[in-house]
Amino acid sequence: MKNVLITGGAGFIGANFVHYLHKVEPQTRLINLDALTYAGSTENLKSMADSSRHIFLKGDICDIKQVSQIMREYSIDTIIHFAAESHVDRSIIGPAPFIQTNVVGTFTLLEAAKQAWGQERSGKLFHHVSTDEVYGSLSPEEPAFQETTAYDPRSPYSASKASSDHLVRAYFHTYDLPVTITNCSNNYGPYQFPEKLIPLIILNALQGKPLPVYGDGKQIRDWLYVEDHCEAIHLVLHKGKLGETYNVGGGNQPYNIDLVNKICSLLDELKPATDKYSLLITHVTDRLGHDRRYAMDTKKIGTELGWQPKHDLDSGLKKTVEWYLANMDWAAKISKDRDFQAWIDKNYFKRGEN
Ligand code: NAD
Ligand code: TYD
Repeated sequence: MKNVLITGGAGFIGANFVHYLHKVEPQTRLINLDALTYAGSTENLKSMADSSRHIFLKGDICDIKQVSQIMREYSIDTIIHFAAESHVDRSIIGPAPFIQTNVVGTFTLLEAAKQAWGQERSGKLFHHVSTDEVYGSLSPEEPAFQETTAYDPRSPYSASKASSDHLVRAYFHTYDLPVTITNCSNNYGPYQFPEKLIPLIILNALQGKPLPVYGDGKQIRDWLYVEDHCEAIHLVLHKGKLGETYNVGGGNQPYNIDLVNKICSLLDELKPATDKYSLLITHVTDRLGHDRRYAMDTKKIGTELGWQPKHDLDSGLKKTVEWYLANMDWAAKISKDRDFQAWIDKNYFKRGEN
């Protein structure tokens, strides 16, 4: 039996990955370490409650004592590191937790892995989950990011993730720690915390609230359905080359405003209201330093490992909107239990004052 430590497994992508791995690897034990910040919730793991192969531990990746103890107690052979502060807007208003969790937390995990595994590297792997945002922002004509594109992070979030990527590579080159890295574009799908664009738009629309679009709405993200990301990570775990980085992306690059309109049309079809949902669209003050465009070149993972996303934007968005419609009780709990309203006030009603 393999013993996999998943950090941040109560968050959006982490929880989806826990469900995925639990299904595809019946011989694997999943140790899920999560601090349950505002972004993490055991509501995302309810279907795991009866599993003896999923062990949830509440804890902080910055706590070297706890992480080292987990490495020993559960004989961890694989670490899949999702835990992070992940929201760009929050990093603009308060960057300190981003440095703590994303930089110090990743460093702590690397140290714990190095100490626990020593010279015994066979069958061991530290997989780091990162983002396309480390590469900076593209103009409309520039080619998509490749693994060799120079890092150019521009928000406190992306700078902290870039820093963590550098540390992971440094541990590979300096200490021979067996590592792989994936840099992925914007994910969407079930269990995404409603501060991010897609769930925010779906849930605001259903409540008849304004749909806030930053600036002119002509920014571009490369959207990927979360299950396709899980498959890519799984492939890298088993077939990836040590020390290598793989870019992962959806190949779907709409303007934000077109994406929001697409969600509105889907809602018009699946949950018709008196008026068209698009009438709720409201342009608001732009994000500071807003990156204009991201796009991923996924040739490497495609040709070397045979990965391709299974969902295009239409099929992935439809599944996502249907999931939120079927899980309104989840959404109500997630947005009520936390400081979510305080965040909405700060980010939208006091925009420009921060
Ligand atoms: P998320 O914010 O939904 O979840 C993060 C999880 O980490 C939460 O469960 C939180 O409780 C936990 N966490 C935070 N600080 C912690 C700490 N100190 N110790 C232990 N747990 C802690 O994030 P997500 O969207 O699921 O992203 C997961 C990873 O994927 C992140 O590393 C992020 O940078 C990366 N990523 C995300 C996207 C995206 O579109 N969401 C795209 C590319 C890469
Ligand atoms: P987001 O989901 O926060 O992800 P990221 O900043 O990591 O790309 O935002 C996606 C895009 O949507 C980004 O260009 C910012 C924009 N956006 C809005 O226009 N309105 C919003 O209310 C939010 C949260 C984001």
